[in-house]
Amino acid sequence: MSSLLDSFKLDGRTALVTGASRGLGRACAEALAEAGADLVLVATSSCAETRVRIEALGRRVEVIRADLGERAAATTLIATATRFAGPLDILVNNAGIIRRGEFENFSEKDWDDVINVNLNAAFILSQAFVRPLLAGGRPGKIINIASMLSFQGGVRVASYTAAKSALLGLTRLMANELAAKNINVNAIAPGYMATDNTAALRADEKRNRAILERIPAGRWGAGADLKGAVVFLASPASDYVHGHALAVDGGWLAR
Ligand SMILES: NC(=O)c1ccc[n+]([C@@H]2O[C@H](COP(=O)([O-])OP(=O)(O)OC[C@H]3O[C@@H](n4cnc5c(N)ncnc54)[C@H](OP(=O)(O)O)[C@@H]3O)[C@@H](O)[C@H]2O)c1
Repeated sequence: MSSLLDSFKLDGRTALVTGASRGLGRACAEALAEAGADLVLVATSSCAETRVRIEALGRRVEVIRADLGERAAATTLIATATRFAGPLDILVNNAGIIRRGEFENFSEKDWDDVINVNLNAAFILSQAFVRPLLAGGRPGKIINIASMLSFQGGVRVASYTAAKSALLGLTRLMANELAAKNINVNAIAPGYMATDNTAALRADEKRNRAILERIPAGRWGAGADLKGAVVFLASPASDYVHGHALAVDGGWLAR
């Protein structure tokens, strides 16, 4: 008889994680590998450090360098990954960028670049990911990395908040259409995490203090804080969880 903990295992599964070269994507990839999955890592850079860590866990790993800001790269990615690694079971749409500036001067480039990587790529990859699952009647898991700005407006981050709010809407839409086909679509909404993405905030003493004072847990999050959430949402343990946004935020949203 299999135990409860067995339902968190990912042996024999293959997961694709975008933005796996560093930060939260690296932590997600490592977590999935620790739970037993083989990995396809995607970023514009080589993901060398992440690859080493996953190989050390004894899992298979493929790296695909792709710029997800380019429509053509996103469109062909799932097919390329499947050719290298075989059928995919888990997709983590994590790659993301942020641009900051006052709304009235926010450039169209900063709008388009962020929407392309943070939203359009997730749409394109998710569509390409589910098609073979639906054709083969196989189950699957999509995890979209959302944000506090899927719930709140933020300041000076127009394209980021628009993309992350839309990504949560898309998560719910996909869940509604795919739940009955045994494909789970959920989101993780990280709070304020210490990565390159938030380096500017942490370097600004006033903003850093204000953020810390508002986080009930009293500290910035780390990649490791996401590990349990991503394994849960990638595993059979979450088979009846659909369209949910799991906040890993030190209590930020509860405040
Ligand atoms: N840090 C936070 O506080 C926080 C909070 C909420 C949500 N998030 C979200 O979590 C995700 C990961 O963020 P992070 O904090 O880990 O950021 P990060 O440290 O800046 O890492 C971003 C990742 O995305 C990849 N990436 C960026 N542009 C790409 C492109 N055009 N094509 C392919 N890959 C690309 C980067 O790889 P290369 O540069 O090597 O290509 C890197 O692996 C993002 O979606 C972010 O919005 C972060």
